[in-house]
Amino acid sequence: MQNSVARSIDRYGVVGHPVAHSRSPMIHAMFAAATGQNLVYDRYDLAPDDFTREVGAFFAAGGRGLNVTVPHKETAARLADELTPRARLAGAVNTLARLDDGRILGDNTDGAGLMADLHRLGCDITDKRVLILGAGGATRGILGPLRDRRPAELIVANRTAERARELAGHSGCVYEALATRKDLPFDVVIHATSLGLEGKVPAVTAKIVGPGTFAYDLGYGKPETPFTRWATEHGAGRVAQGIGMLVEQAAESFLLWRGLRPDTTAAHRAVIA
Ligand code: ATR
Repeated sequence: MQNSVARSIDRYGVVGHPVAHSRSPMIHAMFAAATGQNLVYDRYDLAPDDFTREVGAFFAAGGRGLNVTVPHKETAARLADELTPRARLAGAVNTLARLDDGRILGDNTDGAGLMADLHRLGCDITDKRVLILGAGGATRGILGPLRDRRPAELIVANRTAERARELAGHSGCVYEALATRKDLPFDVVIHATSLGLEGKVPAVTAKIVGPGTFAYDLGYGKPETPFTRWATEHGAGRVAQGIGMLVEQAAESFLLWRGLRPDTTAAHRAVIA
């Protein structure tokens, strides 16, 4: 991960596998230009076996911070010398920062990014009935911030009941259980499974969405995702996808690293162009 960039420029980057299509370099370059910050932000494709060694070398060589994406988020949480409370809660790290004393801080800005994007879209979840589909790492990252907004109900439904209950306590259930509910549709449905990567959606009753439903997919695709297409086809009043969350979690990482939060308007426009 060494490169020839002058030591005086602060170095950042995104680590993933694969990472070639990551939009983070473009987003952070826009933030840096807009705020007059002198930094470079590169992509690093690291296989799992190389992650810990190469990330250590990046920071030892003076690197300031890294975003971490699939499949390294849990490894990054183990690598960090210290975790923020929200990273500990999520059990995963999407942002690493070198502290002044050389130790590495692990943070997770995904939940804050989702909340900022929902706010930007005018979706206030306070007192709303909210359903999350999926109980993996993505759900763990957003559950705390969602709960903090005090929805009327927050239900986690998953293929495997155990994982849903583990995360959500008594409001966890399996997909089939949703079909028996009398109080459908939900106000907000958040899709957080990894099925979109295979072009699929969870096997769940279409009654969860209706004209009053805001359906949000944590994943993203152009111009839609399998889940946003499914939700639209089944009558969801409004859909949105996680490209907006990507921009907002980047702004939260930038804030951690540089001490200021960039205006995200131009980046939102650029990522959907
Ligand atoms: P991530 O960290 O990306 O969330 P994960 O922790 O492996 O990845 O979680 C993947 C999520 O997608 C889980 O909710 C998983 O359901 P299970 O807990 O039952 O495995 C869900 N998922 C993955 N493949 C699925 C499938 N074919 N059908 C239904 N749900 C699936």
